[in-house]
Amino acid sequence: MAITSSAVHCLVCGVFFLSIHLAEGDLRYSFPEEMRRGSVVGNIAKDLSLEVSKLSARKARIDTEGSDKHYFDIDIRNGDLVISDRLDREGLCGDKASCVLKQEIMLENPLELHRVNLHVQDINDNSPLFNKELIQIDISESAAKGARFPIEDAHDADVGQNSVQTYNLQKNEHFILGVGTNSVELVLSKELDREKLKEISLLLTALDGGSPQRTGTVTIHINVLDANDNVPVFQQPIYKTSMPENTPIGTVVLTVGATDADEGINGEVTYDFGHISDEVKAIFDIDNKAGEIKLMRAVDFETVSLFELRVTAKDGLGLTSYSKVIIDITDVNDNAPVIYTKSLSSPIPENVSSGTEVAIINVQDRDSENNGQVRCSIQENVPFKLEPSIKNYYSLVTTGHLDRELVSGYNVTIFATDEGSPPLSSSKTIQLSVADINDNPPVFEEQSYSAYVSENNKPGSTLCTVSARDPDWRQNGTVIYSLLPGEVNGASVSSYLSVNGDTGVIHAVRSFDYEQFRSFKVQVMARDNGSPPLSSNVTVSVFISDMNDNSPQILYPAPEGSSFMTELVPKAAHGGSLVSKVIAVDADSGQNAWLSYHIVKATDPGLFSIDLHSGEIRTQRDISASDSMKQNLIVAVKDNGQPSLSATFEPWEKIW
Ligand SMILES: *[C@@H]1O[C@H](CO)[C@@H](O)[C@H](O)[C@H]1NC(C)=O
Ligand SMILES: *[C@@H]1O[C@H](CO)[C@@H](O)[C@H](O)[C@H]1NC(C)=O
Ligand SMILES: *[C@@H]1O[C@H](CO)[C@@H](O)[C@H](O)[C@H]1NC(C)=O
Repeated sequence: MAITSSAVHCLVCGVFFLSIHLAEGDLRYSFPEEMRRGSVVGNIAKDLSLEVSKLSARKARIDTEGSDKHYFDIDIRNGDLVISDRLDREGLCGDKASCVLKQEIMLENPLELHRVNLHVQDINDNSPLFNKELIQIDISESAAKGARFPIEDAHDADVGQNSVQTYNLQKNEHFILGVGTNSVELVLSKELDREKLKEISLLLTALDGGSPQRTGTVTIHINVLDANDNVPVFQQPIYKTSMPENTPIGTVVLTVGATDADEGINGEVTYDFGHISDEVKAIFDIDNKAGEIKLMRAVDFETVSLFELRVTAKDGLGLTSYSKVIIDITDVNDNAPVIYTKSLSSPIPENVSSGTEVAIINVQDRDSENNGQVRCSIQENVPFKLEPSIKNYYSLVTTGHLDRELVSGYNVTIFATDEGSPPLSSSKTIQLSVADINDNPPVFEEQSYSAYVSENNKPGSTLCTVSARDPDWRQNGTVIYSLLPGEVNGASVSSYLSVNGDTGVIHAVRSFDYEQFRSFKVQVMARDNGSPPLSSNVTVSVFISDMNDNSPQILYPAPEGSSFMTELVPKAAHGGSLVSKVIAVDADSGQNAWLSYHIVKATDPGLFSIDLHSGEIRTQRDISASDSMKQNLIVAVKDNGQPSLSATFEPWEKIW
């Protein structure tokens, strides 16, 4: 197992860029089997012209999905391709002359895929091996010079030069070695004489061509017989057949036959397998008498596509011939395509542009040719499509705008169907969720708000509630209310109103006075908690309504210090003459300021009347001598509020 580093070499067979995203090219490395774990096979960064510093971010890796073994790793620190598991060429490739492992190097962002062909070279780690330690041959003493006696050849698990190259027969008087392409024979070079020699033992050595050379030996024991005998002869030197991989167990795959010219027991031929592995022995059975080779266990084209069986035909005296049976396994569409998600970006921000790649899909079908050709499709009515990428890779890309507020997630089903007949198909559902972007400002439920409040309200009383909705997610949809700065009558709005940031309830901060102002407007802002935040503004108009909080005020006659007022009335006044007029005002408005005048008390109730609305005091009749010189009136002024307020006043009507 001497390994020289010069045995490791690399060849970049060309890198083509299919598009900006896709690169495809084959890397080829060649190295001996059985190298230590951690041995460096090549450097992919150098050979693919990749920046070492980006390997990690681009998730450079060997793609092993679909195969169960993981033989190689990429060292992200330097781009070395290193061996991560034992590579036994014989276990991997058996008798195949060339042992190539196909792997894929995958990079994301953008997706790149590189095929790597890893040629595992044979080292001479297996010796030639004979099927038996001792070969018994019976040879008649009458055998003619030049008669040939087949010997089962030796097997070496290595290939090429490392497999069996030559044979050496121990020096002796009677036999020499005849070696053909497919056979080893003892050739009688000098006649036998049983009377002189009953038995001969010879050592046969098989040598391979490896360095260092390995050998295997077998002892050939020859019994010299009295009688005449013939060797069985196979009808064909090599038998070939093919069968589909789904051939039922118990089927006779092929029948071998050999004839022996002898009669009786000497002509009875029995068949058996020669040197075959235990696994193959478990799959096929040979009927010793009939030569029928029967299938005992299911075969799988994807695992082994060809069997080579050595068969022997032996007559009653033990003379043996050798032949070979080659069974070709043909593919049947027995593997459904398998869909793999290689990369998935979920959640997807709702503002991604059309054509954004959200997942990488790989489809594999273990069958061959048409049975392994796969078509992929995607369900309809989703804003996604599959774009073929490299080989059996697809990109799942968006085809339109996403809106989380309308659809917050998708289950996208991908279908894969092969072209076998009948075709097999499979599907896979990918869950994609849409992430929120703060793309909706809060919207007030009303275009504007009005609040009505009676004056003299209590500070802290609720005026109204504003409310805005924002369909975005969490903080992007959390609404906070605030008053926009401004002035009402020269004072800051915040000295009049406050808004609860969470609930939008607007409170009066102070008591309002209708007589000072009747309405005012403020701006309320609803802002979400996104970053950056979005907002909308709304106008809130506050209308103050009047309360009957002012009593009528009498302006004339002016009450100076006391409520007494003296007016002089001419003695000759006729009925209906205007004597005086009471003038009063009320700071309130409307009904609250609608005044009426009444005489509530008079010395002579029939003498004066007051106009309800104008406050004019007139005589009701001519004044006569009998009337008192001094008439006393009490006048009340009432407003029409609920309850009404009044002022009273006592003019003295003095008649002269
Ligand atoms: C996707 O499928 C899962 C599992 O069946 C289900 O829980 C989820 O609600 C589905 N989502 C959508 C957007 O249909
Ligand atoms: C809110 O939106 C911003 C972008 O506008 C996004 O980055 C963030 O993740 C969103 N928040 C949530 C809780 O979805
Ligand atoms: C609301 O008013 C504030 C202050 O004037 C302003 O900064 C903001 O942009 C306004 N918002 C909208 C949506 O008009």
